Amino acid sequence: MKRIKHKFGNDVIIFEGATIHDTCQIGPFSIIYPEVILEENVIVGSSCIIGKKPTTGLNQLELVGLKETTRIRKNSLICDQVIVYAGCDIGEDCYLADRAFLRENVVLKNKVVIGTSVTVSFSAFIGSGSKIMTGTNIGGKMIIGENCFIGAHVCSVNDNNPRLNSSRSEHQGAIIEDNVVIGSNVTILPHLHIKKGITVAAGAVVSKNLSEENQLYIGIPAKIKK
Ligand SMILES: CC(C)(COP(=O)(O)OP(=O)(O)OC[C@H]1O[C@@H](n2cnc3c(N)ncnc32)[C@H](O)[C@@H]1OP(=O)(O)O)[C@@H](O)C(=O)NCCC(=O)NCCS
Repeated sequence: MKRIKHKFGNDVIIFEGATIHDTCQIGPFSIIYPEVILEENVIVGSSCIIGKKPTTGLNQLELVGLKETTRIRKNSLICDQVIVYAGCDIGEDCYLADRAFLRENVVLKNKVVIGTSVTVSFSAFIGSGSKIMTGTNIGGKMIIGENCFIGAHVCSVNDNNPRLNSSRSEHQGAIIEDNVVIGSNVTILPHLHIKKGITVAAGAVVSKNLSEENQLYIGIPAKIKK
């Protein structure tokens, strides 16, 4: 890969094939890979890696097909030490805090907030206005609706039997509808559906579909609080 000349200082590496709008800012020690598009007023902090292709190795699960471009839409702010893998599409006015980590093909719609040290796994989708708090793990292929609030250190997973080494195509994180609140330290098992407006209390384990809209679910397993 060939590096291109740019105005962001010697510590920044930008590879040929990246498209960066004149109004963007990029901090020191960041690397921008080919096929990355940074739109107007995007700010990338220091020590970020944008558009990296996942590394394959022995015992690695097969990768999903990568989308061609990695796009960060206008006015989004990417803080420091953030890693955005190839194929991600980050909407307008998004905020990615320090050490946020997005695996390949993640889609964030507009005004999404990703907190410090959050991991969003491959091909997850997060709807506009949703906020994901510190240290949370969003499982692969999870779908989160609009205006959801996912508390700190939530763990959502996409494979019930990891020792079976099943294909990634069979993995599916939960589907969460609009306006859902997930309390801190909740665990959400794979393939489940959480209906709109539901609140899940801190520390609960979601092991079955939560089907009654706008209700409060508490405990292990999560059930409606009478
Ligand atoms: C579930 C929740 C919304 C209930 O709040 P509330 O309506 O003010 O409820 P209260 O504190 O009055 O508690 C009502 C009862 O539920 C119990 N309770 C409250 N939260 C609970 C929880 N997370 N798990 C189990 N029981 C809980 C209380 O002990 C109390 O029990 P009791 O009736 O036997 O005395 C709140 O406790 C909660 O978990 N919020 C999530 C906060 C969070 O994680 N925010 C994310 C920030 S990053």
